[in-house]
Amino acid sequence: MEILQQLSTTAQVWAEAEEFIRLFHRENPGSGDPRDRLAAVRQELEDTGTYRHTHEELVHGARVAWRNSNRCIGRLYWNSLRVRDRRELTGGDEIAAECFEHLRDATNGGRVRPTITVFAPETPDRPGPLIWSEQLIRYAGYGDHPSVTVGDPRNRELTEALRERGWPGGPGTPFDLLPLVVQGCDDKPRWFEVPADAVLEVPIEHPDDDHWTDWGLRWHAVPAISNMCLEIGGIHYPAAPFNGWYMGTEIGARNLGDEDRYHLLPGVARRMGLDTSNDRSLWKDRALVELNRAVLHSFDRAGVTIADHHTESRRFLTHLEREERRGREVGADWSWIVPPISGSATPVFHRTYEDRQQNPAYVHHEGAEDRARGRDLV
Ligand code: ARG
Repeated sequence: MEILQQLSTTAQVWAEAEEFIRLFHRENPGSGDPRDRLAAVRQELEDTGTYRHTHEELVHGARVAWRNSNRCIGRLYWNSLRVRDRRELTGGDEIAAECFEHLRDATNGGRVRPTITVFAPETPDRPGPLIWSEQLIRYAGYGDHPSVTVGDPRNRELTEALRERGWPGGPGTPFDLLPLVVQGCDDKPRWFEVPADAVLEVPIEHPDDDHWTDWGLRWHAVPAISNMCLEIGGIHYPAAPFNGWYMGTEIGARNLGDEDRYHLLPGVARRMGLDTSNDRSLWKDRALVELNRAVLHSFDRAGVTIADHHTESRRFLTHLEREERRGREVGADWSWIVPPISGSATPVFHRTYEDRQQNPAYVHHEGAEDRARGRDLV
């Protein structure tokens, strides 16, 4: 039974490997005839049940996985993703240390650089490492209910689980850094305090209202997703944190605005003196716009890369045209591509997309959400 199962997984890996190797050679004309490489991969698979990507295959695979991310509006620059090849690392502490180095490197003093760090793959004889945290940088959420939470309610359960596992907690501000949770191969998950010098943050202020400064709002410069599995040609890299730069609405509309996140629209409206007793004053809409202006203004002032949703929408259409010219189909998920404010004022709203899944890809594996919430943290 086991042998049969092994055979069928090998067949599956081979099918995906073959497709990827052909794609790699098609898109990298300098890389020659794929036949030799295909034969070598096939032999390695038969001998070991897995195969090792060349550095160039890994780089291209990670970039194409970005190109295939149907929910991402920022794909125009997919081919310039910087790839840090750390496949030799399997231990929790060395992986955590490299994640922090990733942050320093990607932050680049504010000129944010899209970057991925790839750690050890899964193999037939051991699982790959895992980063439980959904992003390298997360803010704690304290309190037993979303509505009374200090900090980010999204991370409430993780914060509580960490405290039960010995994390002393932060100073108790709404923006305390959570430790990073990493599980090495054949190890249990452990937490690592994120060094302050690895995290650049931007104080949020409003261009026309000085009082916002006293409010103490802030957000971090770099969004680095860390709980998606990079899949290339049948090989799984479960720990492969990657980052781009922020689009303002992610922070100004969703993170700070959503009712189950920082829920700041009532506070913004109060500061603006708006009538919040009636939906039809459009106080939420007006507060959203000002919050988003504040985010863009603050990042600009701090010299930190951030895109606005109008520019990023135009870039996405350029990406579609460019890919079409190269004869490639771009999959996209309308409900994720269209910005959460002023959708119809951006060109990405006024068309449809094919939400077709292609490989290589970044994939949420089963249990990723539970792990990010700290469920079953041992
Ligand atoms: N929306 C997420 C956040 O607000 C980040 C997702 C990735 N975003 C990006 N611009 N690459 O933290």
